[in-house]
Amino acid sequence: MTGSDPSQFEVRPHPNPRSEAERGAILANPGFGRDFTDHMVTIRYTEGKGWHSAEVGPFGPLSLSPATAVLHYAQEIFEGMKAYHRADGRIGLFRAEENAARFQRSAERMAMPQLPTELFLGSLRALIDIDRAWVPEGEDTSLYLRPFMFASEEFLGVRPAMEFTYCVIASPAGAYFKSGPKPVSLWVSHEYTRAAPGGTGAAKCGGNYATSLRPQAEALEHGCEQVVFLDAVHRRYVDELGGMNMFFVYEKDKTVVTPPLGTILAGITRDAIFTLARDAGYEVVERLYDIDEWRADAESGDLTEAFACGTAAVITPVGVVRDKDHEFSAGTGEAGPLTKRIRQNLLDIQHGKVADPYGWTSVVD
Ligand code: PLP
Ligand code: COI
Repeated sequence: MTGSDPSQFEVRPHPNPRSEAERGAILANPGFGRDFTDHMVTIRYTEGKGWHSAEVGPFGPLSLSPATAVLHYAQEIFEGMKAYHRADGRIGLFRAEENAARFQRSAERMAMPQLPTELFLGSLRALIDIDRAWVPEGEDTSLYLRPFMFASEEFLGVRPAMEFTYCVIASPAGAYFKSGPKPVSLWVSHEYTRAAPGGTGAAKCGGNYATSLRPQAEALEHGCEQVVFLDAVHRRYVDELGGMNMFFVYEKDKTVVTPPLGTILAGITRDAIFTLARDAGYEVVERLYDIDEWRADAESGDLTEAFACGTAAVITPVGVVRDKDHEFSAGTGEAGPLTKRIRQNLLDIQHGKVADPYGWTSVVD
């Protein structure tokens, strides 16, 4: 089966969906990843048969054998994207084909089958179609979409599974950080790394996030909200945060610096920022960025802004940066002018409030 026609999906409406009042209460204060819509998509893959049994059914528990491969060897990948209520009243997506392509790259790295782009896009449309009332309308809100795939074969041998399950669930989202676009504080992890060359850093697989939890706890213990990882070889070049890419702004020569791809996730927001920064008159430089350079340039004032970016967090200014010996902050420690400008620009495009000269947005209905 291929194609994006939602009619390919068998639709089993929830027999007992949430009432309008229940949904309204959730949408009034959506939080992040806490409440889920009434439905979910499921598609199965079986070696030799391909993709089959696509359906949109009630959101609910999966029934798995204790011997299901993913529970033992973590053969699992996911994506994160958002559906937006647009200014014209329609529902839009942002660069969804890029998520489809990254899902395929993650699958390739994890020895999993690649879901065709049209089926990926069709699955999003099918879910949004039935749960469209769950897309919140407020400023800075959206319906967070979580496509994921796991090895669902019942087998304990260590080899790629022969059966996989792909699902999409959706969760209404407010601002990811409770503090909104206020600066996020960062703990520099010297002990733990996130990804080594040849590893899975560029894949969006669950294991990368599992290993980030201990360093994230360390960040919290030190009064910081997020952890920034350094490279695994030299232990000095900035990689990224647990769920966001990093940018550094040098106003004096109008450049924006960001770590190169390799062991980091190729963020779709990161890529959009390249274009928005260039259009704002800045040169974008992808290069290794030393933690000592960060501190020295922050202290001298050469570094004027630092921000992190990702689908969930959009663009978030970085405030205090700390490790056991140092503490510094870029610029004033508040959201700088370029950070604010690019953030607003991006949100306005995503919500269809301004024209999209880049062809990044698509409407679902
Ligand atoms: N880096 C990591 C580790 C992430 O999990 C994410 C979020 O998806 C990002 C960066 C940002 O990627 P994107 O902008 O595509 O959401
Ligand atoms: C996202 O930004 O979509 C992410 O996936 C980050 C995090 C919630 C895992």
